[in-house]
Amino acid sequence: MSKEKRFDGQVALVTGAAGNIGLATAKRLAQDGADIVLLDIAADKLEEARDEISAFGTKVETVTCDVTDYKSVETAVASAEDKMGPIALLFNNAGYQGTFTPVQNYDPEDFTKVIQIDLIGAFHVLRAVSARMAAHRFGRIVNTSSMAGLQGPPNMVAYACAKFGIVGLTQTASKDLAPHGIRVNAIAPALMGPGFMWDRQVELQAKAGSQYFSSDPKEVSDEMIKGVPMRRLGDISEIPGVVSFLMSDDSSYMTGVTLPISGGIL
Ligand SMILES: NC(=O)c1ccc[n+]([C@@H]2O[C@H](COP(=O)([O-])OP(=O)(O)OC[C@H]3O[C@@H](n4cnc5c(N)ncnc54)[C@H](O)[C@@H]3O)[C@@H](O)[C@H]2O)c1
Repeated sequence: MSKEKRFDGQVALVTGAAGNIGLATAKRLAQDGADIVLLDIAADKLEEARDEISAFGTKVETVTCDVTDYKSVETAVASAEDKMGPIALLFNNAGYQGTFTPVQNYDPEDFTKVIQIDLIGAFHVLRAVSARMAAHRFGRIVNTSSMAGLQGPPNMVAYACAKFGIVGLTQTASKDLAPHGIRVNAIAPALMGPGFMWDRQVELQAKAGSQYFSSDPKEVSDEMIKGVPMRRLGDISEIPGVVSFLMSDDSSYMTGVTLPISGGIL
Protein backbone atom coordinates (compact mmCIF):
# COMPACT_ATOMS: atom_id res chain seq x y z
CA MET A 1 0.00 0.00 0.00
CA SER A 2 1.47 3.39 -0.94
CA LYS A 3 2.05 5.89 1.86
CA GLU A 4 -0.27 8.91 2.05
CA LYS A 5 1.47 12.14 1.05
CA ARG A 6 1.11 15.60 2.59
CA PHE A 7 -0.80 17.17 -0.32
CA ASP A 8 -2.54 14.16 -1.89
CA GLY A 9 -5.62 15.29 -3.85
CA GLN A 10 -4.82 19.02 -3.54
CA VAL A 11 -4.13 21.42 -6.41
CA ALA A 12 -1.17 23.81 -6.14
CA LEU A 13 -0.71 26.91 -8.33
CA VAL A 14 2.91 28.06 -8.66
CA THR A 15 3.73 31.41 -10.31
CA GLY A 16 7.18 32.15 -11.70
CA ALA A 17 7.10 28.39 -12.27
CA ALA A 18 9.54 28.47 -15.18
CA GLY A 19 12.19 30.07 -12.96
CA ASN A 20 14.64 28.52 -10.52
CA ILE A 21 12.76 28.78 -7.21
CA GLY A 22 9.31 28.23 -8.75
CA LEU A 23 10.31 25.06 -10.60
CA ALA A 24 12.24 23.62 -7.64
CA THR A 25 9.23 24.24 -5.40
CA ALA A 26 6.73 22.85 -7.92
CA LYS A 27 8.81 19.65 -7.96
CA ARG A 28 8.69 19.42 -4.18
CA LEU A 29 4.91 19.99 -4.07
CA ALA A 30 4.45 17.28 -6.73
CA GLN A 31 6.63 14.93 -4.65
CA ASP A 32 4.35 15.78 -1.73
CA GLY A 33 1.40 14.57 -3.80
CA ALA A 34 -0.11 17.81 -5.16
CA ASP A 35 -1.45 18.26 -8.69
CA ILE A 36 0.38 21.24 -10.14
CA VAL A 37 -0.57 24.28 -12.22
CA LEU A 38 2.54 26.03 -13.53
CA LEU A 39 2.05 29.73 -14.36
CA ASP A 40 4.66 31.96 -16.00
CA ILE A 41 5.04 34.57 -18.72
CA ALA A 42 7.76 32.48 -20.43
CA ALA A 43 5.78 29.98 -22.54
CA ASP A 44 8.73 27.91 -23.87
CA LYS A 45 10.34 27.41 -20.49
CA LEU A 46 6.93 26.47 -19.06
CA GLU A 47 6.68 23.50 -21.43
CA GLU A 48 10.14 22.29 -20.31
CA ALA A 49 8.97 22.66 -16.71
CA ARG A 50 5.83 20.62 -17.47
CA ASP A 51 8.00 17.73 -18.76
CA GLU A 52 10.06 17.79 -15.56
CA ILE A 53 7.01 17.82 -13.27
CA SER A 54 5.27 15.04 -15.23
CA ALA A 55 7.99 12.67 -13.99
CA PHE A 56 6.47 12.81 -10.48
CA GLY A 57 3.20 11.20 -11.64
CA THR A 58 0.72 13.84 -10.40
CA LYS A 59 -1.41 15.90 -12.81
CA VAL A 60 0.21 18.99 -14.31
CA GLU A 61 -1.13 21.91 -16.37
CA THR A 62 0.62 25.02 -17.66
CA VAL A 63 -0.82 28.48 -18.09
CA THR A 64 0.98 31.34 -19.80
CA CYS A 65 0.07 34.60 -18.12
CA ASP A 66 1.46 38.05 -17.38
CA VAL A 67 0.71 38.67 -13.69
CA THR A 68 0.71 42.45 -14.23
CA ASP A 69 -2.59 42.16 -16.17
CA TYR A 70 -5.45 41.44 -13.75
CA LYS A 71 -7.89 40.23 -16.42
CA SER A 72 -5.34 37.68 -17.69
CA VAL A 73 -4.76 36.48 -14.12
CA GLU A 74 -8.51 36.00 -13.58
CA THR A 75 -8.79 34.07 -16.85
CA ALA A 76 -5.72 31.94 -16.03
CA VAL A 77 -7.00 31.04 -12.56
CA ALA A 78 -10.50 30.23 -13.88
CA SER A 79 -9.08 27.99 -16.62
CA ALA A 80 -6.73 26.27 -14.12
CA GLU A 81 -9.67 25.47 -11.84
CA ASP A 82 -11.81 24.27 -14.77
CA LYS A 83 -9.11 21.77 -15.74
CA MET A 84 -7.79 20.75 -12.31
CA GLY A 85 -10.40 21.57 -9.64
CA PRO A 86 -10.22 24.06 -6.74
CA ILE A 87 -6.80 25.55 -5.97
CA ALA A 88 -5.88 24.75 -2.34
CA LEU A 89 -2.22 25.82 -2.36
CA LEU A 90 -0.68 28.97 -3.89
CA PHE A 91 3.03 29.73 -4.23
CA ASN A 92 2.91 33.39 -5.29
CA ASN A 93 6.46 33.75 -6.52
CA ALA A 94 6.85 35.45 -9.95
CA GLY A 95 9.40 38.24 -9.77
CA TYR A 96 11.97 40.50 -11.42
CA GLN A 97 14.93 42.02 -9.59
CA GLY A 98 15.33 45.31 -11.50
CA THR A 99 18.53 47.24 -12.06
CA PHE A 100 21.20 48.07 -9.47
CA THR A 101 21.48 51.84 -9.23
CA PRO A 102 21.58 54.36 -6.36
CA VAL A 103 18.17 55.88 -5.67
CA GLN A 104 19.06 59.33 -7.02
CA ASN A 105 19.80 57.82 -10.46
CA TYR A 106 17.26 54.97 -10.46
CA ASP A 107 15.30 54.77 -13.72
CA PRO A 108 11.63 55.59 -12.93
CA GLU A 109 10.44 53.23 -15.67
CA ASP A 110 12.34 50.31 -14.17
CA PHE A 111 11.00 51.24 -10.71
CA THR A 112 7.46 50.98 -12.08
CA LYS A 113 8.22 47.69 -13.84
CA VAL A 114 9.57 46.10 -10.63
CA ILE A 115 6.58 47.26 -8.58
CA GLN A 116 4.17 46.09 -11.28
CA ILE A 117 5.59 42.57 -11.47
CA ASP A 118 6.73 41.93 -7.89
CA LEU A 119 4.04 43.71 -5.88
CA ILE A 120 1.00 44.47 -8.04
CA GLY A 121 1.38 41.10 -9.83
CA ALA A 122 1.53 39.29 -6.48
CA PHE A 123 -1.58 41.18 -5.33
CA HIS A 124 -3.40 40.25 -8.57
CA VAL A 125 -2.68 36.55 -8.11
CA LEU A 126 -3.48 36.56 -4.40
CA ARG A 127 -6.71 38.51 -5.07
CA ALA A 128 -7.95 36.16 -7.81
CA VAL A 129 -6.98 32.92 -6.06
CA SER A 130 -8.08 33.86 -2.53
CA ALA A 131 -11.59 34.81 -3.72
CA ARG A 132 -11.97 31.23 -4.99
CA MET A 133 -10.30 29.71 -1.92
CA ALA A 134 -12.72 31.65 0.29
CA ALA A 135 -15.65 30.10 -1.57
CA HIS A 136 -14.22 26.66 -0.70
CA ARG A 137 -13.26 27.77 2.83
CA PHE A 138 -9.71 26.42 2.52
CA GLY A 139 -6.37 27.79 1.32
CA ARG A 140 -2.64 27.92 2.02
CA ILE A 141 -0.75 30.81 0.45
CA VAL A 142 3.00 31.45 0.47
CA ASN A 143 4.27 34.71 -1.04
CA THR A 144 7.90 35.25 -2.05
CA SER A 145 9.46 38.31 -0.42
CA SER A 146 13.25 38.57 0.03
CA MET A 147 15.76 39.64 2.65
CA ALA A 148 15.57 42.87 0.61
CA GLY A 149 12.01 43.08 1.96
CA LEU A 150 13.23 43.03 5.57
CA GLN A 151 16.37 45.19 5.22
CA GLY A 152 16.76 47.60 2.28
CA PRO A 153 20.04 46.77 0.50
CA PRO A 154 21.95 49.53 -1.35
CA ASN A 155 21.19 50.13 -5.06
CA MET A 156 17.93 48.11 -5.07
CA VAL A 157 15.28 50.67 -4.17
CA ALA A 158 12.50 49.31 -6.40
CA TYR A 159 13.07 45.70 -5.37
CA ALA A 160 13.25 46.61 -1.67
CA CYS A 161 9.99 48.60 -1.92
CA ALA A 162 8.24 45.74 -3.72
CA LYS A 163 9.49 43.07 -1.33
CA PHE A 164 8.69 45.17 1.79
CA GLY A 165 5.25 45.47 0.16
CA ILE A 166 4.98 41.68 0.07
CA VAL A 167 5.45 41.60 3.85
CA GLY A 168 2.53 44.05 4.22
CA LEU A 169 0.43 42.12 1.71
CA THR A 170 1.09 38.96 3.70
CA GLN A 171 0.17 40.51 7.06
CA THR A 172 -3.05 42.18 5.91
CA ALA A 173 -4.18 39.27 3.72
CA SER A 174 -3.60 36.87 6.64
CA LYS A 175 -6.05 38.89 8.75
CA ASP A 176 -8.64 39.33 5.99
CA LEU A 177 -8.52 35.66 5.02
CA ALA A 178 -8.26 33.91 8.41
CA PRO A 179 -12.07 33.88 8.83
CA HIS A 180 -12.28 32.02 5.50
CA GLY A 181 -9.96 29.15 6.46
CA ILE A 182 -6.99 30.57 4.55
CA ARG A 183 -3.48 31.00 5.97
CA VAL A 184 -1.04 33.43 4.29
CA ASN A 185 2.70 33.41 4.98
CA ALA A 186 5.83 34.49 3.12
CA ILE A 187 9.45 33.49 2.64
CA ALA A 188 12.36 35.91 2.46
CA PRO A 189 15.30 34.19 0.74
CA ALA A 190 18.76 35.72 0.29
CA LEU A 191 22.24 34.80 -0.89
CA MET A 192 21.01 31.94 -3.07
CA GLY A 193 23.56 30.60 -5.52
CA PRO A 194 25.68 29.93 -7.37
CA GLY A 195 23.74 30.62 -10.54
CA PHE A 196 22.34 33.36 -12.71
CA MET A 197 20.62 35.43 -9.97
CA TRP A 198 23.66 35.41 -7.72
CA ASP A 199 26.16 36.18 -10.51
CA ARG A 200 23.93 39.00 -11.80
CA GLN A 201 23.58 40.42 -8.29
CA VAL A 202 27.29 40.53 -7.46
CA GLU A 203 28.21 41.83 -10.92
CA LEU A 204 25.63 44.62 -10.77
CA GLN A 205 26.51 45.55 -7.16
CA ALA A 206 30.18 45.79 -8.24
CA LYS A 207 29.27 47.99 -11.24
CA ALA A 208 26.91 50.23 -9.21
CA GLY A 209 29.96 51.88 -7.59
CA SER A 210 28.79 52.42 -4.01
CA GLN A 211 30.84 52.71 -0.84
CA TYR A 212 29.36 49.43 0.40
CA PHE A 213 30.87 47.02 -2.08
CA SER A 214 34.09 46.53 -4.02
CA SER A 215 34.16 47.05 -7.79
CA ASP A 216 35.34 43.43 -8.17
CA PRO A 217 32.44 40.93 -8.32
CA LYS A 218 34.53 38.21 -6.63
CA GLU A 219 35.20 40.55 -3.69
CA VAL A 220 31.50 41.55 -3.55
CA SER A 221 30.61 37.87 -3.32
CA ASP A 222 33.12 37.33 -0.48
CA GLU A 223 31.90 40.46 1.36
CA MET A 224 28.28 39.31 1.21
CA ILE A 225 29.06 35.78 2.38
CA LYS A 226 31.10 37.18 5.31
CA GLY A 227 27.91 39.02 6.38
CA VAL A 228 26.15 35.80 7.42
CA PRO A 229 26.99 33.47 10.31
CA MET A 230 26.79 30.37 8.12
CA ARG A 231 29.51 31.76 5.83
CA ARG A 232 28.16 30.13 2.70
CA LEU A 233 25.62 30.67 -0.04
CA GLY A 234 22.19 29.16 0.34
CA ASP A 235 21.15 26.64 -2.29
CA ILE A 236 17.85 26.82 -4.20
CA SER A 237 17.17 23.33 -2.82
CA GLU A 238 16.97 24.86 0.69
CA ILE A 239 13.78 26.78 -0.22
CA PRO A 240 11.09 24.25 -1.30
CA GLY A 241 10.96 22.42 2.04
CA VAL A 242 10.18 25.68 3.83
CA VAL A 243 7.34 26.44 1.39
CA SER A 244 5.96 22.92 1.81
CA PHE A 245 6.13 23.32 5.61
CA LEU A 246 4.24 26.65 5.45
CA MET A 247 1.53 25.03 3.32
CA SER A 248 1.22 21.97 5.55
CA ASP A 249 -0.53 21.31 8.84
CA ASP A 250 2.90 21.34 10.54
CA SER A 251 2.51 25.15 10.50
CA SER A 252 -1.20 25.12 11.37
CA TYR A 253 -0.95 28.02 13.89
CA MET A 254 1.20 30.25 11.64
CA THR A 255 -0.24 33.04 9.52
CA GLY A 256 1.02 36.50 8.55
CA VAL A 257 4.61 35.39 9.09
CA THR A 258 7.57 36.14 6.79
CA LEU A 259 10.30 33.53 7.30
CA PRO A 260 13.87 34.52 6.37
CA ILE A 261 15.85 31.87 4.46
CA SER A 262 19.17 33.56 4.69
CA GLY A 263 21.87 31.96 6.80
CA GLY A 264 21.27 34.84 9.26
CA ILE A 265 22.51 38.43 9.32
CA LEU A 266 25.55 39.54 11.33
N1 LIG B 1 17.20 33.81 -6.38
C1 LIG B 1 17.35 34.58 -5.32
O1 LIG B 1 18.46 34.74 -4.81
C2 LIG B 1 16.16 35.24 -4.69
C3 LIG B 1 16.31 35.81 -3.43
C4 LIG B 1 15.20 36.42 -2.84
C5 LIG B 1 14.00 36.45 -3.49
N2 LIG B 1 13.89 35.91 -4.74
C6 LIG B 1 12.57 35.98 -5.37
O2 LIG B 1 12.18 34.65 -5.68
C7 LIG B 1 11.27 34.67 -6.78
C8 LIG B 1 11.76 33.70 -7.84
O3 LIG B 1 13.04 34.09 -8.25
P1 LIG B 1 14.06 33.14 -9.03
O4 LIG B 1 15.36 33.25 -8.36
O5 LIG B 1 13.45 31.81 -9.26
O6 LIG B 1 14.16 33.98 -10.40
P2 LIG B 1 13.88 33.53 -11.89
O7 LIG B 1 14.20 34.72 -12.73
O8 LIG B 1 14.56 32.23 -12.16
O9 LIG B 1 12.28 33.27 -11.89
C9 LIG B 1 11.34 34.30 -11.93
C10 LIG B 1 10.21 33.85 -12.86
O10 LIG B 1 9.17 34.85 -12.84
C11 LIG B 1 8.67 34.95 -14.18
N3 LIG B 1 8.04 36.25 -14.40
C12 LIG B 1 8.65 37.46 -14.49
N4 LIG B 1 7.75 38.40 -14.80
C13 LIG B 1 6.54 37.79 -14.90
C14 LIG B 1 5.23 38.24 -15.19
N5 LIG B 1 4.98 39.53 -15.47
N6 LIG B 1 4.22 37.34 -15.20
C15 LIG B 1 4.45 36.02 -14.94
N7 LIG B 1 5.69 35.54 -14.68
C16 LIG B 1 6.72 36.41 -14.65
C17 LIG B 1 9.91 34.79 -15.05
O11 LIG B 1 9.56 34.43 -16.40
C18 LIG B 1 10.67 33.70 -14.31
O12 LIG B 1 10.38 32.41 -14.81
C19 LIG B 1 11.19 36.11 -7.24
O13 LIG B 1 10.05 36.73 -6.67
C20 LIG B 1 12.46 36.72 -6.68
O14 LIG B 1 12.35 38.10 -6.50
C21 LIG B 1 14.94 35.31 -5.35
